[in-house]
Amino acid sequence: MNMAASAKLDPTLDLVTEIKRLKQEKNAVILAHYYQAGDIQDIADFVGDSLDLSRRAAETDADMIVFCGVRFMAEVAKILSPDKKVILPDLAAGCSLEDSCPPDEFRAFKAANPDHMVLSYINCSADIKAMTDIIVTSSNAEHIVEGLAKDQKIIFAPDRHLGGYLSRKLGRDMLLWQGACIVHELFSEKELIKLKARHPDAPVAAHPECPDQIVQHADHVGSTSSILEFAINSPADTLIIATEPGIIHQMEKAAPNKTFIGAPGADGNCSCNTCPYMALNTMQKLYLCLQNGGPEINLDEGTRVAAEKPLRRMLELSTAINQKPQTFATTVKE
Ligand code: 13P
Ligand code: SF4
Repeated sequence: MNMAASAKLDPTLDLVTEIKRLKQEKNAVILAHYYQAGDIQDIADFVGDSLDLSRRAAETDADMIVFCGVRFMAEVAKILSPDKKVILPDLAAGCSLEDSCPPDEFRAFKAANPDHMVLSYINCSADIKAMTDIIVTSSNAEHIVEGLAKDQKIIFAPDRHLGGYLSRKLGRDMLLWQGACIVHELFSEKELIKLKARHPDAPVAAHPECPDQIVQHADHVGSTSSILEFAINSPADTLIIATEPGIIHQMEKAAPNKTFIGAPGADGNCSCNTCPYMALNTMQKLYLCLQNGGPEINLDEGTRVAAEKPLRRMLELSTAINQKPQTFATTVKE
């Protein structure tokens, strides 16, 4: 959806009412990631991490899935629910991790290491998924790697930081593709140390997409859902959050008396850590995509079928993880 179309919108339009009306009219479900803007999270039927959202996309009985997240997430919804119409407010919402793993280069890398199983982080293109044995998310990666035979050789792609974290934690050598998330790489260890000195009692929660020098300072490392759970349940009244700051919206809703400080970048504040791809989705574009029924996600069927296999494998292997109803992840408001 382009800026010109958004600019033409009647400024007096009540977007919340209109989005709810269109959603009902089209029997659509709105799925949103924690990194979306607060107003989008508030209007979504479900807000969650990548694993939660994959499960919801696979199980929905809606006719249309409106995915408020980045393109690879909407592609996962299409791969798992091919008969549904999947739309995304802005098709340009990519991901630096996806960009850091070009399919042709990865194909050659895989061919050069034929005795390795391929584990790919869900933050990758459908083409990379199609070359993968098992997809993982930050919620289930540790559990899935631990379940593999000790002598199984593994390629881990595309995130070198998540892969490195798993390698160190599980004492397991893996061949790491050297991709990274531009957002999580911006946190500054020097500024984090200064911030910790100012808030000595504040625990640090970090996403494993952060480089090791940030993760080393963390009291809790995990997916967005687990960071949220940790922040809500921690007895501390101030916490430092080293991931995209969109998640702080749910923390402030669930624990309004606590203070959540975004971990700093090199300039000492954390505004640089807003994901520029996630930020492309807006309420205006959400309204327009529901109204227009697009931009729509369409995938080549051969790629979709090949990518579905490692995603289904992931879902099978993660049945024990987070199956309890996620009270803070469900925000149905009708
Ligand atoms: P999770 O929400 O699965 O932790 O992943 C975060 C992320 O990288 C989204 O791009
Ligand atoms: Fe990709 Fe990083 Fe943005 Fe997540 S935060 S969508 S990994 S660029």
